[in-house]
Amino acid sequence: MSEHHHHHQHHHREAWGSNVGFLLATIGSAVGLGNMWGFPYKLGVNGGFGFLLLYLVLLVFAGYVLIMTELALGRHTGQSVALAYTKIRKEYAFVGWMSVLVPFLIMGFYCYLGGYCIKYTFANLGDLFGASWGVGGVDGPDYFGALAGDQLQSAIWTAIFSLIVIVIVSFGVKRGIERFNKIAMPALFIMLVIVIIRSVTLPGASAGLSFLFKPNFEVFAGTGWISVLAAAGGQLFFSLSIAMGILVTYGSYLDKNQDLEKNSFIIPIADTLVAIMAGLAIFPAVFAEGQDPAGGVGLLYMTLQTVFNHMGGFGPFFGMLFYALVAIAAITSAMSVLEAIIGSFIDLGINKGKGNQRKKLAWGFGIATTIIGVLVACDGLGSYFPPMFGKFCWVDGFDLISEGILMPIGAFLTTIFFGWIDRDVLPNEVRIGSDFKTEKFYRFCIRWVAPLFTLLVLLGQLDTFFGFGWFQ
Ligand code: PHE
Repeated sequence: MSEHHHHHQHHHREAWGSNVGFLLATIGSAVGLGNMWGFPYKLGVNGGFGFLLLYLVLLVFAGYVLIMTELALGRHTGQSVALAYTKIRKEYAFVGWMSVLVPFLIMGFYCYLGGYCIKYTFANLGDLFGASWGVGGVDGPDYFGALAGDQLQSAIWTAIFSLIVIVIVSFGVKRGIERFNKIAMPALFIMLVIVIIRSVTLPGASAGLSFLFKPNFEVFAGTGWISVLAAAGGQLFFSLSIAMGILVTYGSYLDKNQDLEKNSFIIPIADTLVAIMAGLAIFPAVFAEGQDPAGGVGLLYMTLQTVFNHMGGFGPFFGMLFYALVAIAAITSAMSVLEAIIGSFIDLGINKGKGNQRKKLAWGFGIATTIIGVLVACDGLGSYFPPMFGKFCWVDGFDLISEGILMPIGAFLTTIFFGWIDRDVLPNEVRIGSDFKTEKFYRFCIRWVAPLFTLLVLLGQLDTFFGFGWFQ
């Protein structure tokens, strides 16, 4: 019996322990740096409440539909992303393999950025004790400048972040990924609520609230609405982890009884809720401390550290709490990225009768992506290496190829495959375990709305990266 059980574990595909576990893991993938530094800032500068409405419309017409498509593709084929596409049609194989390459490229810069979150968690902890390894009141931009210029330190924190991710993923879908998310995601939520309470009760916090939500329809004037739409679209894709092989892979571990329609509804809502909450945690404090709003690296590692420096005695405590929650968000996202890379190779092994080679693959690919991450770290945001494509620091270069170009191409082709060519296979899958009340809506959106939308995002991304000025 125990012999049989052993055999079972190592030669068959893994699965989630429960639907809640699946949901937390998928939301854990969606909730990441994009929610913390992308959404709130874009919300503020792109029209506040107007942007929020537009984002919600896109969420319903494109986000919901694309999530469902990927989850259904994974569950229908019972294969990770590369093999899932191949199983529908041989001709689709290249999109499947592209969805393995994209997470591989993303993993490199994501580990680098996540590593800094761990570093900042410790640095704020150090301040709590007045330790020499704390931030010591150094202004955010100076502190970050020194850190980014320190190749050895940057490489070490990148590797630490990577290692955490590899270890968790090597334990497996249920015992590693699901177990970690079940603890980490509720913890993240509670930490976020505590930081929000502090932030919105600071004197002068209301300026941050009006930055976030005050409707400014001027940004929609003329062709402005196109650039706002493209910004919302790019954000939506990245934030929901769409077209990265992740949802297909996670869906492939889901039980046939579970309701794909309901799950596809909950995931984007939860992701957006956390993104709005991140805005409430960040911008009231930024304005209360008299800082200028920013996005991206500048917001997370410069502006906010200055804010925590200025917060007084409890500043380091809230700083530590905040960076720890961002680190958790980044770890649960990076886990899904690594799983999307190795899942297809695990399945190849199982299909060839070689058994489940998870441990070997997690470490092999994990170390390969760590090397890329360390290279990105050593570039020091463009201080040390020659720029990629003549103008981008390595973080931006990897981001451009993966998120900017390959991701929207993959998403566009997916809408063509399942909106125009193989139109019934996925709706049939969703109907197992679900009433699928939105089937007509789904079919309309995957055929008409989602392709147009993915194409627009592609153009928008190319435009922002290369500065063509198409949408000005
Ligand atoms: N969705 C995550 C975020 O918002 C990022 C991510 C990208 C996760 C790609 C997985 C894959 O930060």
